[in-house]
Amino acid sequence: MDKRRIFKVTSVVVALNAIACFPAISMTKAAKIDAMKLYNKHCSACHDKKGKPTDFGKELETTDFTDKNWQSNTSDEKIIKQITDGTNEKMMPFKEKLSVNEIGALVPVIRNFAKK
Ligand code: HEC
Repeated sequence: MDKRRIFKVTSVVVALNAIACFPAISMTKAAKIDAMKLYNKHCSACHDKKGKPTDFGKELETTDFTDKNWQSNTSDEKIIKQITDGTNEKMMPFKEKLSVNEIGALVPVIRNFAKK
């Protein structure tokens, strides 16, 4: 590899890094703004707009997010894992529908259901 070629490769890497970092930043902002919208769109069919199981959700034994006991026995990591991977035959995984940042933004939404 001569010096000019090394320079070329380096600038490609720098350019790729810039592209890779930029959407991550703007997505965090978007996810913060839209977390409630995401919840209503993807989760409320089973979990209700207030965090309680819907009639459909009850059949699947959906978790009640307003339950303070459940909240205090659940870590943020567990919530993230549940949204990412789901539960077989009960809740679908969201890892292909939502970004890591969007999933993270849903944690405070779920936590908020018990604060009343
Ligand atoms: C098809 C119905 C359905 C949808 C849609 C759904 N869930 Fe669930 N969810 C369930 C069921 C059923 C359970 C209980 C699973 C179990 O017992 O393992 C559950 C459990 C959970 C739990 C608790 C897991 C635990 O540790 O007890 C969290 C957190 C959760 N869902 C978040 C979400 C979020 C966020 C969304 C939207 C992105 C969503 N769910 C969409 C059915 C659903």
